[in-house]
Amino acid sequence: MQLDLPFIKNEATDIRRFNILSSPKLGGSCDIDSKRYLRELGIDIVERKQPIQFTSNFGEHVHRWAPYIQGFSALFVQSILDQYKKEYKAPVILDPFSGCGTVLVQSKLNGYKSVGTELNPLLQFVANLKVNSWDINPTLLFESYSSIPHNIKTPAPDFLKSENQFNKGVLKNLELLKGGIDLLPAKTRKLARIKNLILLAFSSILIDCSNLKRTPCLGYWKNKQVPDNAPWILMRQKIKDICHDLSILQRIYKDYIHIQSKVLLADAMEYRHEDIFNLIITSPPYMNGLDYVMNYKIEMGWLGFTRGTKDAKKVKDSLVVCDNVSKGLIKTFTQSNSKYTNPWIDEIKEHIETNIKRRGNYRRSDMPNIVHKYFDDMYKVMKIVTKSLERKGRFILVVGDSLIADVYVPTDLILAKIGVDLGLFIEKIEKARNRHSGQVRNYRLRETIVTLKKETEKGNTNGR
Ligand SMILES: C[S@@+](CC[C@H](N)C(=O)[O-])C[C@H]1O[C@@H](n2cnc3c(N)ncnc32)[C@H](O)[C@@H]1O
Repeated sequence: MQLDLPFIKNEATDIRRFNILSSPKLGGSCDIDSKRYLRELGIDIVERKQPIQFTSNFGEHVHRWAPYIQGFSALFVQSILDQYKKEYKAPVILDPFSGCGTVLVQSKLNGYKSVGTELNPLLQFVANLKVNSWDINPTLLFESYSSIPHNIKTPAPDFLKSENQFNKGVLKNLELLKGGIDLLPAKTRKLARIKNLILLAFSSILIDCSNLKRTPCLGYWKNKQVPDNAPWILMRQKIKDICHDLSILQRIYKDYIHIQSKVLLADAMEYRHEDIFNLIITSPPYMNGLDYVMNYKIEMGWLGFTRGTKDAKKVKDSLVVCDNVSKGLIKTFTQSNSKYTNPWIDEIKEHIETNIKRRGNYRRSDMPNIVHKYFDDMYKVMKIVTKSLERKGRFILVVGDSLIADVYVPTDLILAKIGVDLGLFIEKIEKARNRHSGQVRNYRLRETIVTLKKETEKGNTNGR
């Protein structure tokens, strides 16, 4: 039995390698494979190259408080706000997938009201603090942090104690730092808010203190050198940065401090908004992209948002589907009677199924239903938020396409088509950057900005 295992593993790897090397998509591109879909939609994609990813936010005030790189670039959000500033005088903005709050922070920096929904409790906590702490006195924040004792430990969560994640000396200092923060008083609302901001700072130094990197997936960083006292050095710098930003906000943005920004721990597939929005700006999860929970398990564990991997998987299964959700979730979906579909999705599912059978080996045999569930989930979100979009309002989505088992999935165009089904009008589809497939590396994919507009009230009533 033991002798067989390496052979089986190699055979699977060989089949996978063979499938990639013999892929009919080698050297292909989304441009060729999108043509027929674009023809049906009656639209062309135009180039609008620009930085969209969060990496460009690292030095930006407020955004830098929690640099989670799966987010948007603040510059990109600003360019959208600038584009429509004449048309909407004081727009109310929604981001149904608010992540660490880039859209909400940038909206508030422009003096605009905004609402976000987010299902990862860590990200909701972070985004909420980024928009609702602008009135905290920086001197008080610094004094509170400086007052914490350095000799009481809060033990790290058991599942994060491995030396693979933190060196012994670093771990001890993190436990002392967390122990000191936990002792801070939180009896009044003011004190609780200060303590939460210090916890946010603590969460955002954890990856730098660890033997890991996030690029954007969390992985080990061989030969990373972290000095034992890194937690204290990085924490002090982070608190200083936050204090510096608060003093700028209170000087330059003082009229905007109390502008309402709501960040709800809520499911975008179900949440019914009371507000009416002029702009919905969002980046939904990418179909075979990031794991928005396991990627944050370190921060979630330390801040008590998860007790372990099992807990985290539950949160993951509640999000818009990604390709490493539980098999049970997909099975239940397959058995349910009420699902959104359209001819494109049916055809894509069928092709993926055929290709998986032909290949004889694929990461997940339930991939056709994962793809289907992704669009069903997105339909639910788009349907419910479209109801809260004012007439003449715009729904702007940034999304990437996929290549799955040699089948091209034009996620952007399918979402645009769903918009049309919901009574929206496709105003434009712009390519922001080229990407490449994770499997067939020389197959070119793209990231696009899809702008949908509600021309009539039809978007309120149309639908499944
Ligand atoms: C691409 S990220 C958005 C990043 C965001 N633009 C930012 O700047 O941080 C997608 C986010 O959607 C969240 N999400 C996924 N499904 C959700 C759902 N059903 N309801 C609310 N949020 C969800 C994920 O947790 C993730 O944070």
